[in-house]
Amino acid sequence: MGRHGKERPSSISRTPASSSTADAPTPPGSAPPISAISRRAFLKVTGSAVPAAGVLIDGLVPPEALAAPPVVGPGPVAVTLTVNGRRQTLQLEPRVTLLDALRDFAGLTGAKKVCDRGTCGACTVLLDGGAVYSCSVLAIEAQGHAITTIEGLAPDGELHPVSAAFVEHDAQQCGFCTPGFVVAAKAFLDRHPNPTEEDVMKGLGGNLCRCGTYVGIRRAVVDAARRVRADGAGEGKGGSA
Ligand code: FES
Ligand code: FES
Repeated sequence: MGRHGKERPSSISRTPASSSTADAPTPPGSAPPISAISRRAFLKVTGSAVPAAGVLIDGLVPPEALAAPPVVGPGPVAVTLTVNGRRQTLQLEPRVTLLDALRDFAGLTGAKKVCDRGTCGACTVLLDGGAVYSCSVLAIEAQGHAITTIEGLAPDGELHPVSAAFVEHDAQQCGFCTPGFVVAAKAFLDRHPNPTEEDVMKGLGGNLCRCGTYVGIRRAVVDAARRVRADGAGEGKGGSA
């Protein structure tokens, strides 16, 4: 009897203790019905199933797959990057971001460090043609991929059509966001060769300009698309488009 005059259940079970099914015998070798499983019976069943599951996993997963991956670092290790078509091997700690590797070790300062947390787009570079925040990619992860920076869009000193359109449409003030915008716009136009200004606004939504030059940027990108379509001037300058 409980403190408040209520009878306590004698055991934890889905079936009331008074039910006849709780004590009903089960045929040898067959599991009892769910409604008749008591807490004690449940623990017995699951306790015997766990080792069986372990045997199953042991049989399916080859031992080498269970081995820990090789550890590199924390000191500098050789990291080979292909930047703007040129392979170079740098000695970098594995924690170094692609942005820091480019700026501090490869001497390419076009990509800018502003937020350093994947928010503003000032550090945008191309990885196999796709725009990425280089502050959010480890340099060691970028091995084996083609990296293109803003410098790579003007390999011979001649401006890429997107860069030229930015100048013409006065699409920058302090210019700190501009390299990231130009690189992101290049990747965007590769996939959307005939965008509207609204398309550009959405497509470049991952880049921020604190000076608020968005109107000029949108016009510049639409104009660059028109020029690229008209004469294919983007061919051979940092990739397609
Ligand atoms: S510096 Fe990389 S997103 Fe801002
Ligand atoms: S031009 Fe200054 S942040 Fe964009």
